[in-house]
Formats: sequence, structure tokens, C-alpha cells
Amino acid sequence: MYVCVCNAIRDKDLRAAALLCAGDAEAVYAMLGFAPKCRQCLADAQVMVEEARKAELLPVCLPD
Ligand code: FES
Repeated sequence: MYVCVCNAIRDKDLRAAALLCAGDAEAVYAMLGFAPKCRQCLADAQVMVEEARKAELLPVCLPD
């Protein structure tokens, strides 16, 4: 799905990029080569960025 319609940024691309740079959603947009336009997506994008980074820190449980 698209998280940012103005820039056609998909959630999977945002989540992947969030792991490669520091900063807020706007910084992640910049890393992808975009800048917010209407800015209506930024709150949801920020949640996705934070979720992606937290998920990366969770330990992986492997079966015995
Ligand atoms: S929907 Fe992201 S800047 Fe408009």
C-alpha cells in the first residue's frame, strides 16, 4: 500500500529505508529522494518508521 500518495512511497519501501537511516519520517523520505508535499501522511509514516525500527530490535525466537 502507499503511505504517501503525493510521492508514491510504499509502506514496504518506507519500512526498509527506516532501517538504513536515522531521523524522523521526513528524514526517511529525504533518503528515498522525496520531500513531503501535502504532509497529510507524515503522522502515519512516523508510526511506520518507529514500528520498523522496534521490530528490528526484537529478539528472534527459534524453535529447538
Ligand atoms: S500524501 Fe505524503 S506528502 Fe501528501
